[in-house]
Amino acid sequence: MAATEQRLSTTVLVIGTGGAGLRGSVELAEAGVDVLAVGKRPKNDAHTSLAAGGINAALATMDPEDSWQQHAADTLKESYLLGDPRTTEIVTRGAAQGIDDLERYGMTFAREQDGRISQRFFGAHTFRRTAFAGDYTGLEIQRTLVRRAEQLRIPVLEGVYITRILTHEGAVFGAYGFDLKDGTRYRVHADAVILAAGGHTRIWRRTSSRRDENTGDSFRLAVEAGARLRDPELVQFHPSGIIEPENAAGTLVSEAARGEGGVLRNALGERYMSRYDPERMELSTRDRVALASYTEIKEGRGTEKGGVWLDVSHLPRQTVMDRLPRVYRTLLDLQMLDITRDPIEVAPTAHYSMGGVWVRPEDHSTDVRGLYAIGEASSGLHGANRLGGNSL
Ligand code: FUM
Repeated sequence: MAATEQRLSTTVLVIGTGGAGLRGSVELAEAGVDVLAVGKRPKNDAHTSLAAGGINAALATMDPEDSWQQHAADTLKESYLLGDPRTTEIVTRGAAQGIDDLERYGMTFAREQDGRISQRFFGAHTFRRTAFAGDYTGLEIQRTLVRRAEQLRIPVLEGVYITRILTHEGAVFGAYGFDLKDGTRYRVHADAVILAAGGHTRIWRRTSSRRDENTGDSFRLAVEAGARLRDPELVQFHPSGIIEPENAAGTLVSEAARGEGGVLRNALGERYMSRYDPERMELSTRDRVALASYTEIKEGRGTEKGGVWLDVSHLPRQTVMDRLPRVYRTLLDLQMLDITRDPIEVAPTAHYSMGGVWVRPEDHSTDVRGLYAIGEASSGLHGANRLGGNSL
């Protein structure tokens, strides 16, 4: 039977239903703009959930000296000065508002006894500025945004794969795609299209995201529509992906594990970060920690299976249960490993596309009229090294 074609129209079409796509859709709907969101994966199960350990904003709840300017300075410095200064300013200045918005939508953050939002250390931040919900922050944000999108009655099409952005004389007028299950084709007419379909880390075998996401769709769609990419070779490897089982290799052990005091050791039992960044140790920048682990493994000081040990077993059991519940559960489920007793075998895993579609900092427009890119699909904030917590 020939596949049928559905024709839809909207003012703004958002491609991607992870954190960026839903957050953008919510903003538009709250402003009274007609919006349709389309994703190839279920909206409850986005790569956003793998940004587990937290979201950064200089709230200064734990360290009063913190400021958005310091957050901006840390972000730019650790990007090896390849981050765009204007983008960095916009994001770091606006981050506290981002947290307020999430709270307004109903998100629950971890709090201190007196009610302040808790903030933990993440690698290479001068102060504690990572707000969190256990070690499932991205998941909680995703759930919150799904709920908010439902309240606003934003139509969300799941399981639809967009194959082409429709353009005419340099301007966007919609997109074309098909339903992954029944083949129904979709032609969506829209005045503007926002690309929010993530990055391209799936080209590596071990990646922190599932095998059927981050397949580079945003980049291809943008380029074919006439937009430019910036720095697609700048990919972040997260230091701690699990090694086994094979079908889950690369699954993330959140940086929260190191933020809460977890240590890294090689097969000889050495805390090897003392050779690479003796001051910051395990809370060095992600690129340094990942490269250090890689070097240990390549130089023969790794485990037999090609990893290193990440150990949280010295932490109080209650800290693990309160602050790292998802890591605890994941390792128990996948490896029958009790992390309060034994170390976790990990290796670097492809985690995040820091480059992406070139956009203007002020409005994330591209060179193609009516085409925008946001979230991991876009570029500008992270330069050559993203600070953990700066994606959410
Ligand atoms: O390790 C993590 O929790 C990841 C956070 C992030 O990528 O921002």
